[in-house]
Amino acid sequence: MARADQVKALLRAYAGNEEAQFISVALQVAAEEAQRGHVKLAAELRDLIESARAPSSPRSKARALPLAQPRGELAELLTAQYPQQHLSQMVLSAEVEQKLARVLREQRQHERLSGHGLMPRRKLLLVGPPGTGKTLTASVLATELRLPLFVARFDSLITKFMGESSSKLRLVFDALKATRGVYLFDEFDSLGLQRGSQHDVAEMRRTLNMFLQLIEQDTSDSLIVAATNHGTSLDTALFRRFDDVIRYSTPDDAQIEVLLRNSLALLAQPSLDYPQLAQHGRGLSHSDIVRACEDAMKDAVLEHEDHVNAQSVIAHLKERSSSQLQLI
Ligand SMILES: Nc1ncnc2c1ncn2[C@@H]1O[C@H](COP(=O)(O)OP(=O)(O)OP(=O)(O)O)[C@@H](O)[C@H]1O
Ligand SMILES: [Mg+2]
Repeated sequence: MARADQVKALLRAYAGNEEAQFISVALQVAAEEAQRGHVKLAAELRDLIESARAPSSPRSKARALPLAQPRGELAELLTAQYPQQHLSQMVLSAEVEQKLARVLREQRQHERLSGHGLMPRRKLLLVGPPGTGKTLTASVLATELRLPLFVARFDSLITKFMGESSSKLRLVFDALKATRGVYLFDEFDSLGLQRGSQHDVAEMRRTLNMFLQLIEQDTSDSLIVAATNHGTSLDTALFRRFDDVIRYSTPDDAQIEVLLRNSLALLAQPSLDYPQLAQHGRGLSHSDIVRACEDAMKDAVLEHEDHVNAQSVIAHLKERSSSQLQLI
């Protein structure tokens, strides 16, 4: 049976219309029943969860209501999303977790702070290797603060509006003032450079400088989240424009173990030796580990197995490690 705290969490998620949270607690209940050997009940719970998640379910239809979307010129520069990912779903170092908790705390009490002439943290630079949760963090901040997430499309800004990028960027910053939200500027420093043409590089530099100026001048209530993989090559002048710089890194053994436990919960065998499995994930990113678990679960489902097997998880983790080596 579900524990009282789980029933409370389910009710809280239902009342707050937080579907992802509701599903995640329900999955926990199913996983615990499976671990207790109540295989049939666990399978029934999983079927119920799957049908609740199906796109044809009445809840999904109710969610498909039209939501505020950028219009006109802005539509080409910003995409709006309404994410459902919670901080509790992320596996983070204590330092990153504390920093994010601090941002949420200051934002939740922003009126109180501004009443005393103080500004909440809202300009964040996220730095770290691929697949460690930078983009996910922007979604989580939006979910937790019940704000829309707007993703700025630097690619169309640079390539489509050659020569006009700076003025287009101003439009984005006007939107920041008009609509409070989390504005994600993803991979903001790598564009243009990848494309390699001299013209693109010059345009990129100009846009990047304009971006930094606009960040500095911005006094809106929105959150600005800039994410990059290139921590070491960024100069310190850039860091100063942000209220906080949050550094992400690949997970340590303990974090790998939690990621494996969370990702495999749905089909885990009670006897899985997680500490031993975790050793095979060393050096991989969070994203690689989550994907390897998904592949192992797909194997189990396709092979009509009740549980995911340790060998399959190890094989997929190894596959990810070797493709990483090839990339280097
Ligand atoms: N810290 C984390 N905790 C739990 N899951 C994570 C974490 N980081 C990444 N993931 C998983 O990996 C996926 C990809 O992560 P994300 O897109 O946030 O990485 P990123 O740091 O933005 O990478 P990139 O630099 O390539 O853009 C997420 O959707 C999630 O499934
Ligand atoms: Mg990203």
